[in-house]
Amino acid sequence: MGVERSALLYEGKSKRVFATSDPDLVILEFKDDATAFNGVKHALISDKGRINCALSAYLFDRVREAGVDSHMVEKISDTELLCRNVEIVPVEVVVRNFVAGSLAKRYGLEEGGRLARPLVEFFYKSDDLNDPLMGWDVPVILGWTRDWEMAFMKEQALQVNVILCAFWDDLGIDLVDYKLEFGRRPGGALVLADEITPDGCRLWEKGTGRKLDKDVFRRDLGDLSATYHEVYQRVFGAELGA
Ligand SMILES: Nc1ncnc2c1ncn2[C@@H]1O[C@H](COP(=O)(O)OP(=O)(O)OP(=O)(O)O)[C@@H](O)[C@H]1O
Ligand SMILES: [Mg+2]
Repeated sequence: MGVERSALLYEGKSKRVFATSDPDLVILEFKDDATAFNGVKHALISDKGRINCALSAYLFDRVREAGVDSHMVEKISDTELLCRNVEIVPVEVVVRNFVAGSLAKRYGLEEGGRLARPLVEFFYKSDDLNDPLMGWDVPVILGWTRDWEMAFMKEQALQVNVILCAFWDDLGIDLVDYKLEFGRRPGGALVLADEITPDGCRLWEKGTGRKLDKDVFRRDLGDLSATYHEVYQRVFGAELGA
């Protein structure tokens, strides 16, 4: 495609962002690192980068087919996605279909109950502050987003939810909850950005409730690499190649 990878712009906990010869494009490289509790727990998980890159590319394609645009241009290697460069909105958009994680903790609920309808929550994207929950008006009044952006992110998140719930459902998996990020394009338009992977989703096997996501690592429930290989196999119908 002729786009050359250049300077490292940002190294996060699970990905690196590189500039390219085209200022409008960046390369996201998926790493094998897994972290939990805001970086307190860390490990290298064999093949996680390749699996998350493949799953993210595949799922961004599925949501685009269903009419939700994203930053992704194309997958350019086993671990790299070519993406449109965006200014990330500092709001993590969480969609929940079942009670789990911080929702259960916050309200003293048992994990596992199905919610009456999908719940969209907003968190301030700040590792220093541990990503605190925000009411709708907070990021608008503090100048981090605008009202229309909040409405757009909620609407897109609910649209993505319909697509992803059906997708995982067909594979015998409940999509319990997940996090989305959005970014601003040069003209100000918002698009879905970052990643859609089992790092940022809760996926429970139907019937057994077995966890097929990063909670396996957070809660020491087993071998995360084997879990991610299983998710890959279910999605692509084949083992990840050597
Ligand atoms: N298209 C894009 N253009 C620019 N930055 C992006 C794009 N998509 C994702 N990002 C940002 O790239 C970074 C990816 O790194 P990673 O996910 O490892 O970060 P992280 O450790 O989760 O930290 P944090 O997300 O809190 O910065 C994130 O900050 C993400 O918001
Ligand atoms: Mg991240």
